[in-house]
Formats: sequence, structure tokens, C-alpha cells
Amino acid sequence: MFSVEHLPTLNALLNSTCAVLLLAGFGFIRRKNVRAHRACMLGALAVSVLFLAGYLTYHFQTGTTHFTGTGIVRPVYFTILTTHTPLAIAIVPMALITLRLALKRRFSAHRRMARWTLPIWLYVSVTGVLVYLMLYLWYPS
Ligand code: HEM
Repeated sequence: MFSVEHLPTLNALLNSTCAVLLLAGFGFIRRKNVRAHRACMLGALAVSVLFLAGYLTYHFQTGTTHFTGTGIVRPVYFTILTTHTPLAIAIVPMALITLRLALKRRFSAHRRMARWTLPIWLYVSVTGVLVYLMLYLWYPS
């Protein structure tokens, strides 16, 4: 049975899927395939919304999870976390504005904004997976 303890794994899978869709979407637009680019980017947004729902559900139910690693891995973990967290907050309006510009067919403004949005979104997804691995698999409490 699926329970709340499985949510972090599901969330990490959603984050990984998001990173793959963002990379694929970038690859498609470089080859001028707008339809596939649009599908991948909307997919990335959909899995990110699911991730956010799973993340909030988990943390409302269980509270904060403490990192138990010691030694050099500790500053590594906290550096990742302190860069990941503000960027994860910032990416929400950035992704929505980037999407809105595309849907309004303001493509040059979309492209200018997307050049910031895409790398930040990728960084947030990849570091989200790293935080999961460090917190739940490599250094479980
Ligand atoms: C929020 C999600 C999205 C992100 C992160 C994103 C990302 C990007 C990036 C990075 C570029 C520039 C590629 C380059 O430098 O060559 C781009 C261009 C483009 N995107 Fe998106 N995109 C998103 C959603 C969409 C959607 C929904 C459409 C729907 C039609 C779209 C249509 C386009 C088009 C037509 C271009 C080419 C613009 C030009 O070269 O003038 N994008 N996008």
C-alpha cells in the first residue's frame, strides 16, 4: 500500500522526470520543433505541480527531516540546501511568467526570460534529487 513514507521517493522521481523533460524540451526547441518543446515544457510544469503537492503533503504530516551526515558531507549538504531553497521559491513565478509569454506568443521575450528560467529550474530539480538521496538514502535518520 502507498503511504506517506513513500512520498519522498515519489517526489524525487517527479523531480528527475522534470529535469529530463526540461532537457528534452531544450533539445527540441534547438531543432525548431515547437510542438515537442511545448509538450515537454508543459509536462515539466505538470510534474512540478505534482511534486509541490507531494512535498507539502509530506512536510505537513511529518514536519522537518534532520540531516544526520557528519564530516565534510555536512557543509556540502547545507550548501546545496541553502542554494536550492531560495531558487526553488524563485522558480515558481519565473516558470509561470516564461510560460505566459509563450502562450501569448511573445516569443522573443519568452526566449530572453527562458534563458534564466531553464538553467535555474534544472538546478532546482537536480539539487532536489541530491537532497533526497543525501537525506533518505545515503544518510537516513
Ligand atoms: C515554462 C516553460 C518553458 C520553458 C522553460 C521554455 C524554455 C525555452 C528556452 C530556453 C528557449 C530558448 C532556446 C534557445 O536559446 O535557442 C525557448 C524558446 C522558445 N519556446 Fe519555450 N519554454 C517553455 C514553454 C514554452 C511553451 C509552452 C511554448 C509554446 C508554444 C514555447 C515556445 C517556444 C518558442 C516558439 C521558442 C523559440 C523562440 C525564438 O527563438 O524566438 N515555450 N523556450
